[in-house]
Amino acid sequence: MKKSLIMTAAASAVFVFGLGVASGQVTFRHTITGEVLNLDDSLPEGRDTEAVRQFLQTGINPYTEVKECLPKGEEAYLVACSGCHGHYAEGKVGPGLNDSYWTYPKNKTDKGLFETIFGGAQGMMGPHGSHLQLDEMLLMMAWIRHLYTGDVAEADWLTDEQKKNFTPFKPDKSAEENSSASEEQKTAALDACKVSAQ
Ligand code: HEC
Repeated sequence: MKKSLIMTAAASAVFVFGLGVASGQVTFRHTITGEVLNLDDSLPEGRDTEAVRQFLQTGINPYTEVKECLPKGEEAYLVACSGCHGHYAEGKVGPGLNDSYWTYPKNKTDKGLFETIFGGAQGMMGPHGSHLQLDEMLLMMAWIRHLYTGDVAEADWLTDEQKKNFTPFKPDKSAEENSSASEEQKTAALDACKVSAQ
C-alpha cells in the first residue's frame, strides 16, 4: 500500500516536473481553435529565465516597460514580425499591432498575445512557438506594447502605475535616442536587462 502510494507520488512528480517546461498555473489556448497549447513544443533554450518562470505562473509579462530589455525585444521583433506587421507595428500584410483595435480582443492581455504568437491565428499568421524561444517571445511582446500609439486608458496590459508613466510611441524620438547611444552604452544596457525574482 505504502509502496504504491510512493510510486503514484513519483509518477505524478515525473508528470509535473519531467516535462521540459516547468508547469505554471496558467493554461494557454490556441487563439482560433481553443485547443490547449503544449509549451513543450518550445525550444529548450530560454525556457528557464526568471521572466518565463513568472509568466507561466501569472500570465503577466514581467518585461513590460523594463527599459533595459526593450532593445532585445526590438531586435527579435524586427527579425520575426516586422516583415508582415511593419517596422513600428503599424501594419503591412498583417494588421497593425500598435493601436487599440484588436481582431482578437484577448490580445489586449499578455496571455492572449502570447497565445497568438505561440500558436498563430489565421492564414499567414503561422505559429511561432517552435522556432522562437519563450523568453524571446516575452521580450518581443514588451517591445510591441512599447510601440503602442493608442489611448493609454485602453492599454489593459499596463498596470495603473505603468499607465501613469506611459507615453505613446513616437518613431522619430526613438530613432534619435537609438543613434545617440554608443555601441558600449548599448551593450551595457543589454547586460542590465534583468527581471527581479518574486
Ligand atoms: C507571414 C506574415 C506574418 C508574420 C511573419 C507574422 N504575422 Fe502576425 N499576423 C499576420 C496576419 C496576416 C494576421 C491576421 C490573421 C488573423 O486575423 O487571424 C496576423 C495577426 C497577428 C496578431 C493578431 C492581431 C489582432 O488584431 O488581434 C498578432 C498579435 C500578431 N499577428 C503578432 C505577430 C508577431 C508578434 C509576429 C512575430 C513573431 C508575427 N505576428 C508574425 C501575418 C504575419
